[in-house]
Amino acid sequence: MSSQLPTPTRSFRRKLLLFGGLLMFWPMLRFLFHKVPRKPRIIEVSGTFQNDTVLTKQDFLIFQEDEQLWALSRNCTHLGCRINYIEKENYLECPCHQSRFSIQGQVLRGPADKPLPRYPVESTESPSTYLVTIS
Ligand code: FES
Repeated sequence: MSSQLPTPTRSFRRKLLLFGGLLMFWPMLRFLFHKVPRKPRIIEVSGTFQNDTVLTKQDFLIFQEDEQLWALSRNCTHLGCRINYIEKENYLECPCHQSRFSIQGQVLRGPADKPLPRYPVESTESPSTYLVTIS
């Protein structure tokens, strides 16, 4: 009685080599595609709300409604143009391709297909001063 192991087939050896090769490069791939998480930035802004609703800044808009505060990025999620608040209609519109967003940041009309980034806002002890956390 002989105890001979079966010889691996050619395709099995190829798969084994491919798997071994991937395992060898795994640490390098992890290093190359590793993303360092960004630290949140806290920005202090001051100003008064226009019509008790919106406070417009260079990079974001702060909204106030029912005792709640939130900020929306002014960078359009389509191609990055700076969006504007349309007070009369109470929505945000991009001047480049006319995408529209609700004041909650949801897309109302394309071509943008992603909502606007939303940031938490805290009011401070001093009047008309707010802290916006951008992550
Ligand atoms: S950049 Fe805003 S809709 Fe195209």
